[in-house]
Amino acid sequence: MGLPCFLLALAFCAVSIVDSKPFNRYRRDDSAPNPIGSQYPNNVTGTLNQTISIVPIPFALARSIIPAQYGILTAAYKSLLPGFPANSYPSFHISYPFVDLLGDGYSSFQYQEYLFVTSTNPYAISGTEAYGTIPVPATFNPPDKAYAFTCPDPRKNKGDIFFDAYVPGNSQPVVTTKFKPMPAPAGPYSLNFFVNVTNQPAFTDALACDNQIFYYNTTLSQGANAPVTIKGDIKVTAPYLPTTSTFKNVWGIKVDLAFLENNLLPCGDLKGYQHV
Ligand SMILES: *[C@@H]1O[C@H](CO)[C@@H](O)[C@H](O)[C@H]1NC(C)=O
Ligand SMILES: *[C@@H]1O[C@H](CO)[C@@H](O)[C@H](O)[C@H]1NC(C)=O
Ligand SMILES: *[C@@H]1O[C@H](CO)[C@@H](O)[C@H](O)[C@H]1NC(C)=O
Ligand SMILES: *[C@@H]1O[C@H](CO)[C@@H](O)[C@H](O)[C@H]1NC(C)=O
Repeated sequence: MGLPCFLLALAFCAVSIVDSKPFNRYRRDDSAPNPIGSQYPNNVTGTLNQTISIVPIPFALARSIIPAQYGILTAAYKSLLPGFPANSYPSFHISYPFVDLLGDGYSSFQYQEYLFVTSTNPYAISGTEAYGTIPVPATFNPPDKAYAFTCPDPRKNKGDIFFDAYVPGNSQPVVTTKFKPMPAPAGPYSLNFFVNVTNQPAFTDALACDNQIFYYNTTLSQGANAPVTIKGDIKVTAPYLPTTSTFKNVWGIKVDLAFLENNLLPCGDLKGYQHV
């Protein structure tokens, strides 16, 4: 679901789509042109200029959110994150990776209960519902600039990245993010870890899975456009987490990624799926 987009997959993602197929549930955002659209003219492709952050949460909290019938592949994330705090679990936005959906002990899927989608895009809402995910129609500030490097006060906050999500009837944002770019290299996560979690097939009701493939190797994500490490704070209100929570000093990256999305696949077809 894309969304990966963040809420955070999506709330946290913004995208520009070249092929507007009904399944696109993304918003448009500033991005250089899609570099893979002509290569895959019959697939859904697009770009997502976004922030991706890893939020360590208590393992017990992850366990309470991920449906009880699915195991969590702790050995898989521990092998990718040596030194990750014991009893912590790496969520990203409001997506929960390393879920043993097939019960085989090794295939990693990401569970998504909610997805923030732009309230003006009916395709976004129906595309999300097709997976059993609860769409949260939202408006964003800055509008259509998820993860933009904005600068409300140029004297003070140069380079800060703000992004807030609002739902109707609530004057306060339901998600607030504020990041600062950090000098590279920095942070506890390798780029490979971001590649890994963002490429795990996504599911909610498990009647079908979303295989959204992110390409980290195009001109959008390399050279002058290489990922920028960011660090900051995220606040997510209930019910998008069981209780309203603020996470400080969260590390992530800001990067523009091309993607190709294979929608509504039988989840079993993705057994052993690895992003190469
Ligand atoms: C593009 O879509 C076709 C048909 O759904 C699928 O078989 C193919 O694997 C997709 N391409 C990629 C690179 O995933
Ligand atoms: C992604 O968005 C930022 C503004 O938020 C912009 O500066 C950057 O050029 C964009 N990346 C690409 C590859 O277009
Ligand atoms: C992520 O890493 C785990 C552990 O190495 C691996 O089993 C899984 O296939 C990887 N996922 C992707 C999408 O590459
Ligand atoms: C770029 O990444 C995609 C997806 O991971 C992969 O299929 C492709 O082979 C890569 N291309 C190059 C030139 O490495």
